[in-house]
Amino acid sequence: ERVTISVIKADVGGLCGHTEAPEELLDVCDYVLEEAVDEILIDYYVTRCGDDINLIMTHRLGIDNEKIHGLAWRAFEEATKVAKELKLYGAGQDLLAEAFSGNVRGMGPGCAEMEFVERPSEPVIVFCCDKTDPSVFNLPLYRIFADPFNTAGLVYDKSMINGFKFDVLDVIENKQITLKAPEESYQLLALIGNLERYCIKRVHRAKDNEIAAVVSSEKLNLIAGRYVGKDDPVAIVRAQSGMPAVGEVLEAFATPHFVPGWMRGCHWGPLMPVSEEDARPARFDGPPRIMALGFQISNGKLIGPNDLFDDVSFNRAREKALEMADMIRRMGPFQPHRLPEAMMEYTSVPEVLAELKERFVETEKVEKAEKLRERGEIE
Ligand code: F6R
Ligand code: MG
Ligand code: MG
Repeated sequence: ERVTISVIKADVGGLCGHTEAPEELLDVCDYVLEEAVDEILIDYYVTRCGDDINLIMTHRLGIDNEKIHGLAWRAFEEATKVAKELKLYGAGQDLLAEAFSGNVRGMGPGCAEMEFVERPSEPVIVFCCDKTDPSVFNLPLYRIFADPFNTAGLVYDKSMINGFKFDVLDVIENKQITLKAPEESYQLLALIGNLERYCIKRVHRAKDNEIAAVVSSEKLNLIAGRYVGKDDPVAIVRAQSGMPAVGEVLEAFATPHFVPGWMRGCHWGPLMPVSEEDARPARFDGPPRIMALGFQISNGKLIGPNDLFDDVSFNRAREKALEMADMIRRMGPFQPHRLPEAMMEYTSVPEVLAELKERFVETEKVEKAEKLRERGEIE
């Protein structure tokens, strides 16, 4: 039987600042989803990563379903009411539309969904991030599904030896392309190494086109056209029995990489794998974080989660991420800590620079004037 797993997320308020979505908000969401169990949902799990609330839901209605999206929207609306009462920071910040109209995509919340026939045993990992953007998954998804130095199964498992297909979005032109690894892995890298523009949306197993991974790739800042926070992403990855093993999926996060986000969505910072408990970014509003929740799906029910990064084997990755954070923080507002102009989330930066615009003078004119001044021809 087909089952759909939908992960829909939004930031509707933080305590304090942008650090954490408090229990009060999770409770409201829990209440709204609980009401929908049996009627619309099979099961659900509500959590938060930093200031983002993540609704993990299973059902039989397929992806992009109006009832599921409407339910998530209602949960976020109810949570927003509480956030406003408590005057939480940025209350309702990701609900960009006045009213729900069919699908949360384009309305602010982020969304990753996949539908599949439940295997005899179905291990699934849900990743939730804060203080970064969807391109955060480009490098790890490449490692997981295309790099045999990360995923031994690409070499040892007959189901995977034909490789995987990657759907890549061009977020600027709103186009997409599918590339297959290993045959086109260099072309794939040529695109996804550019985090400014390209973003992996989905991965399928080449052998049978079975869905393997999906990422929420809404560009909130492009939707709103002004700063409304980063599009802190979520992703779903299926594991085992002809897919990468759970440990192969997690291995991609054992050596932290630099991602865009962090303070004011304007800085490169290391992606630190953390437990659910530690998903509360503080230093310089970060560093960017990712948590990994492992579930077994059983007749659509979510068994778990197992908090997968809550393990000593990731201590060194965390240490390394903190070292990387120390190192790059020294750069302050200088590149390469600071993001290139086009990637900065604060659309207010051009405003700051605009004020300087008329004070710029042609260098040639300045030089001429200096010469004239030397010769005493002008003051
Ligand atoms: C980054 C983020 C925070 C805020 C920062 C300033 O995604 O959410 O780093 O950008 O705390 O927030 P405002 O502008 O709301 O004072
Ligand atoms: Mg926020
Ligand atoms: Mg956030």
